[in-house]
Amino acid sequence: MIVMTDVLEIIQQRHSARVPFDPNHRVPQEALRQILEAARWAPTAHNMQNFQILLIDDKKILEKIGNIKSRVSATFIRENYLQLSFSEEELLQKRVGILCTNFPLDWRDPAKIEKAVRESMPRPLRERINGSPLLLIVIYDSRKRAPASEGDVLGFISLGCVMENMWLMAQSLGISVHVLSVFSGDDVEKEVKRILHVPEHMKIAFAARMGYPISKPARHLRVRRDIETFVHHNLFGNSGFGWEK
Ligand SMILES: Cc1cc2nc3c(=O)[nH]c(=O)nc-3n(C[C@H](O)[C@H](O)[C@H](O)COP(=O)(O)O)c2cc1C
Repeated sequence: MIVMTDVLEIIQQRHSARVPFDPNHRVPQEALRQILEAARWAPTAHNMQNFQILLIDDKKILEKIGNIKSRVSATFIRENYLQLSFSEEELLQKRVGILCTNFPLDWRDPAKIEKAVRESMPRPLRERINGSPLLLIVIYDSRKRAPASEGDVLGFISLGCVMENMWLMAQSLGISVHVLSVFSGDDVEKEVKRILHVPEHMKIAFAARMGYPISKPARHLRVRRDIETFVHHNLFGNSGFGWEK
């Protein structure tokens, strides 16, 4: 049997780098080209290749984007709460979701969530960009869709393939990545599109900051479900795939 250890290792090592990056440590052009080559070869529904990618490395433009202020949505705070674990033990048991320690105290207490929603302060995107010397912003044409794909679900899956291809390539090159969904939120998207001269009909799928962490990131717990908990053998609900010994 062929075991693609290298590919699996890169997949397992890929992670979200929610840490400050060194603004002066630039991603080498050759590495960037390989990341884009990985994007180029991503599978897309009907091979529509439904993406354009903006590379932002100009300090003045990064600064302008960094000055955009965004307020977290009430929906985000409420629904985020449902994904939280409050201790490493709980997360280890659940195997899905995230640890609460990254979020403000008021977002973690159901009694305080409504107040937090009302009082959430706008924060500059600079805090999210967090020193990164490079942003990749993936956009798509909102006037098109994959054939007969309601809501362009197939188009969005395709954009996810682009994300993963680039992330894995970056990981293999030792470049850290952090996806920032905030860029596709209505107000932020509008401002970013204005600054970058993006045509009206193009929408932001996601942004990713890339670079090198300033210091070695602290260990953080990453969990995944066991295969048996999401695989159904022949019929839904049939667990226990009979693995050959
Ligand atoms: C479509 C998508 C959007 C995401 N948006 C964000 C985001 O806005 N901020 C963030 O910190 N992580 C974001 N992530 C990263 C996930 O939270 C992360 O992949 C997940 O918690 C697993 O952690 P890992 O990437 O370290 O394995 C996003 C991931 C995906 C696939």
